[in-house]
Formats: sequence, structure tokens, C-alpha cells
Amino acid sequence: MVREFVRSSLFPFPPYQLGSEAYIAEACGKFAKLERLCQIAQSRSWNGKEVLADLLRRHGGIQVEPHQRGPLARVFSIILWGELAAWVISADLAERLDDVEAKMAATSQAFDEARHFNTMRDYLLELGGEIPRLDIYTAMLLRMLIDTRSLPHKLLGMQLLAETFAIDVFRTVAERRIEPVLADLLPYFERDESRHVALGVLYLPEQLRRLSLPGVISVYAFQARIFALTSMTQALLAPDFEALGIDNNQVARRGLKLQKEAVEQMNETRGVLTLSAPAEWITFQALDFLFPPKGEQRSTIAEVLNTAGRTVARAGDYALSWAA
Ligand SMILES: [Fe+2]
Ligand SMILES: [Fe+2]
Repeated sequence: MVREFVRSSLFPFPPYQLGSEAYIAEACGKFAKLERLCQIAQSRSWNGKEVLADLLRRHGGIQVEPHQRGPLARVFSIILWGELAAWVISADLAERLDDVEAKMAATSQAFDEARHFNTMRDYLLELGGEIPRLDIYTAMLLRMLIDTRSLPHKLLGMQLLAETFAIDVFRTVAERRIEPVLADLLPYFERDESRHVALGVLYLPEQLRRLSLPGVISVYAFQARIFALTSMTQALLAPDFEALGIDNNQVARRGLKLQKEAVEQMNETRGVLTLSAPAEWITFQALDFLFPPKGEQRSTIAEVLNTAGRTVARAGDYALSWAA
């Protein structure tokens, strides 16, 4: 115990156990799937500049209805800054995760996210106009994911919740073929993001196992903050989704389903919101209340909440642009 304390606090580097045969033998069995993720990442790597240039050539440039250009730019500016946050977070994970296989998976993710950021920035510049600024809720969410020092919070927030949200948006926009270049570009992103979710599914249980009861409670609280902020963002995006012909209710429903599927693949879910039947029912009722299915009217209370959320966002935007 004392020896362990002295070793980790006075001599934290290098972690000699990473070179020991016993550790390597154990890790090989435990994390073989993580190593496989890195091999897949390398063999399926793509060149963002070449792919985008080829798609622009093939489709004769960007083809978007004038009234959809602004909404598309606003939705994908969230994705753009999300990619930058994912890049920063995966680089941080590569340094801080203990096991070599997890470090390798996070390192290959950092390469993917760097490519995603650059390619999405090129696409948005091609789309034209200034890249929109982030709304206050998304800015808070990304800052929260970057700043947290807790590895379970970071892995859960980024790998399981933010990545599945991104996959959901990519699939929806690609399926609707709102803009052909983007529709053909997004499947490249989606394939990479699925591997990033897999890093969370494979490695988060390792972190959850080490949590004490207060740690488990803080995971629940962290998730609640993420859900609150993403719901506010989604309410703000409602007019843009409508202009793009996207059903807000369906997007949220599929996002929750993807998150649930990811959590169900984990072999340890302490503190992670596993939607039991009653919890799932309540969640979907809340979803239908906030974002009613197509054709249904929003209630007065939901309308008031929505207006309050927008007012706070506008005040936040003003504060952010004043501070910038
Ligand atoms: Fe990404
Ligand atoms: Fe990602």
C-alpha cells in the first residue's frame, strides 16, 4: 500500500508495469478488441481533402436550396466544434488512460477527429457564408466534457452520449439527402464515430468498476446535466430541423435508442443510465411533451419552457459575443 503510494505519487512516470510480461499477458486477453479497433482505424483511414474534392467534382459543387443553407450551416457548425472538442478529448484520453490498448484506440481516434474537423471546416467554407457561432448550451456542454478530470465522466459524455448524438444526426441528414455532397460525405464520418463509441463500450466498464457510491451518484448527475443541455440545444435547433425537413421527435427518439443499445453492450453499467421499462416510458413521455411528434400541437407549458430556453440562449449569445 505504502509502496504503491510512493511509486504513483513520487514516480508517476514511466509506468513500468506496461513493460512487464504478466501485465502484457493479462492486457492481451482483456483488451484484444481495443487493439483490433486501432488496426481497423488504420486500414480504413481516408483522406478528407481527396474525398471532399472528389464528391464536389462528382456532384458539380454543393447543391442546396437557398432557404436550407443557413439551417444546414447552424446544425453542422455544432458538429464542427464538437469534432474539435472530440479531438482535444481523445488526445487527453490517449495520455491519461492506463492501458496501452486503450491509449492506442484513443490515439487513433485523435487522428480521426483531426480529419473530421478539417474536412467539416472545408465543407462549411465551401457551403459559403460565415461559420455560425455555437449556442450557449452546446458551448457549455463541450466545455464541460473538455474540462472534467473524471475519466468515467469523460468517456461516458464523449464516447457514449456525444458520439451517438453525432451518428444520429449524420444518419438522418444522409438519409434525407438534403445536400448530395454532404449525404455522401457523412457515411465516412459515421464509420469512424462507430469505432469511437466502441472505445467507450469496451473501456468504460473498466472505469465504472472502480467507482465508489459517491462516484456512481456523480455519474448520474453528470448524465442529467448532459441530457438537460442537449435537450435545450435540440429545442433551439427545432426551426432549423424543420427547415431541413427533419422531425425533431424522431431524431431524439433514435438518439436515445442508439445510446441505449451502446449501454446494453457494456458488461458493467454501474451509474450509467440504463433505461429500465418505467424509466424508458417516462423519458419518451418527456420527449413527446417537449418535442411532440409531427402533426401534434405543443402544450402551453412546453411552449413557455421553450421560450424561456430561447431567451436564456439569446442572453448567453449576447454575453458570449460581448466577451469574445
Ligand atoms: Fe468525429
Ligand atoms: Fe468521434
